[in-house]
Formats: sequence, structure tokens, C-alpha cells
Amino acid sequence: MYICVCNAVTERQVRASVDAGAMTLSDLQFELGVATCCGCCAATAQEYLPGGRCSSVCNVQSVAVASAPVTASVAIEERGAPAANTIPITLVAAA
Ligand code: FES
Repeated sequence: MYICVCNAVTERQVRASVDAGAMTLSDLQFELGVATCCGCCAATAQEYLPGGRCSSVCNVQSVAVASAPVTASVAIEERGAPAANTIPITLVAAA
């Protein structure tokens, strides 16, 4: 969801900025440019700051998943004969 339409700032960006230490609307303005144009989003952006109504709802967190990529091969056989066209595919698990 967009918090600031003028500057295309999303809720996720605002939450990430607060998680990274933004404490005031000025911090958000400096970091993201939120509320620096028409100002209509200032009150909403402030709700995401510590102590605000949206400060602890749906906490966004980054999750690091340690995994090695898995390589698989796909053989395409035609008319029962083993195919020479083996296509390596790298599979990566998404969190
Ligand atoms: S909507 Fe954020 S400055 Fe206009």
C-alpha cells in the first residue's frame, strides 16, 4: 500500500525505515521523501513511528535463508531413445 502517492513511498518502505531507526517525521522525510510534496500523507506516516497506531502491527522482517542452490537436470526423451538434450536447471528455494 502506498503511504505517499506523490513520492511513491510504500508502507513497507516506511516500516523498514522505522525498523532501521527512524524516530520522527523528519527522519522519514529525509530517508524516503515522504510528506515532502503536498503533505497529505504526513499524519499517516506518523502513525508508523514508534508509539503510533500502526507501529507494531504486521511487523515486517527480513528473513535470511541459508541454502545452497540445487542443480537438477531434465532429460527430454523422444520415442524411447535417451535424449542428448540435457538442460541444467538451478533451483533456488524462496522464503
Ligand atoms: S502524498 Fe505524500 S507528499 Fe503528497
